[in-house]
Amino acid sequence: MLLYGCTDIAFAPHGAYWRGARKMSVRHLLSPPRVRAYRAVREREVEALVQRVLEQVCRGGGVRLSELLNDFAKDVAGRIVLGLRAAGDNGWRAKVDALLEETNVLLAAFHIGDYIPWLSWVSHVDGTDARVRMAFQRIDRILDEIVDAAATRETPLSEEEASDDAFIHVLLSLQQEEPTPTAGTGEWRFSRDNVKALLEDLFGAGTEATIIVLEWAMAELLRNKGVMQKLQREVRQARSTSSNDHGNIVGEQDLAGMEYLRAVIKETMRLHTPGPLLLPHKSMQATRISSHGYDVPSDTMVIVNAWAIGRDPEAWESPEEFRPERFVGSGVDFRGQHFQLIPFGAGRRMCPGVNLAMSVVELALANLVARFDWAVPEGEVELDMEETTGCTARKKAPLCAVATQRCFS
Ligand code: HEM
Repeated sequence: MLLYGCTDIAFAPHGAYWRGARKMSVRHLLSPPRVRAYRAVREREVEALVQRVLEQVCRGGGVRLSELLNDFAKDVAGRIVLGLRAAGDNGWRAKVDALLEETNVLLAAFHIGDYIPWLSWVSHVDGTDARVRMAFQRIDRILDEIVDAAATRETPLSEEEASDDAFIHVLLSLQQEEPTPTAGTGEWRFSRDNVKALLEDLFGAGTEATIIVLEWAMAELLRNKGVMQKLQREVRQARSTSSNDHGNIVGEQDLAGMEYLRAVIKETMRLHTPGPLLLPHKSMQATRISSHGYDVPSDTMVIVNAWAIGRDPEAWESPEEFRPERFVGSGVDFRGQHFQLIPFGAGRRMCPGVNLAMSVVELALANLVARFDWAVPEGEVELDMEETTGCTARKKAPLCAVATQRCFS
């Protein structure tokens, strides 16, 4: 119900609709050329993030990093997925916050009927169904408002604006009564409910995991001073020798040779896999995993514990230690080829948003560490690293740190 009868991508059953929706999202939002087209948006939003950090530094006291990263990730996704141009305009951020929170809580809740189908009546009597219905009505109203506002855009776009136009406008241009593939092109057209499901999915996917990675990366860097300093050296040096003439800003062209930055991000995602159990999968045919003595009948829900794989001592040396060096020169990547590191999944349902997600995470992290020196607030002996439970593993206690501005160029 929350995802319009699973007409999003992530929960859509395998078949023609899923293929059409996935292909369309990759072509118009997630392909390398589309990701490149949003570069100016990312650089602008990262600069706004740095300014907000500076404002909190000037006010004195700690920087509320979790809060700032939360707003940052939503502003980026709000702009490129939902077409919301002014940050925080019309209170939209508060509305989508409510939307995401409610969906996450309900998707993560335990519904006994999912595991023991003949007990699905329980959700009628324990109030779950009513809660889902109410949440859905609220979500639907918010998405209606966003879609109506985008549909009434009057000013024609200049060529430059059209090149990084938001995904919502592409979806609206493909909208019709019933979802159908178009003969010849293979391009799908989507009903209004499909449009809302896809926006909900892509906005949610684009924000939650990004916030989680940045939050854990900063927490680990604060705990591991040597790693922080090594990363700062790499980023500051690359910035000071680049041809980028934007003052202190680390731009996307400066990121190319930053191997240690990528190692820090991989190590963060190995230890703090944002979606510890990925998404539920279903076996399409009976399968035998002979090495481990499992027979999986067809049509079985299969849950992959990527979090445990990332900490498996058979795959990793000293798995509980935060040691980005293990990835330097190793070639192990998270793009579905190395099964010991699968924060984005692997195979045909693997996350199609890897490029977009990494472009945002790398730029934000590089700027945060290059432009500030960071420390844990005075009196805080050890950072609280407890995780939340649910379909995503966020840092439970909000991250707060002390920052000092650095001019390095
Ligand atoms: C650090 C950021 C991200 C992480 C860690 C992440 C992780 C994942 C994971 C684990 C899956 C399920 C894979 C599986 O079960 O095999 C997934 C699916 C998906 N992700 Fe991401 N994701 C991220 C960012 C994004 C972004 C930015 C987008 C798009 C805006 C996106 C769009 C999707 C979609 C559409 C699916 C469903 C794919 C399908 O079922 O075919 N993700 N993601």
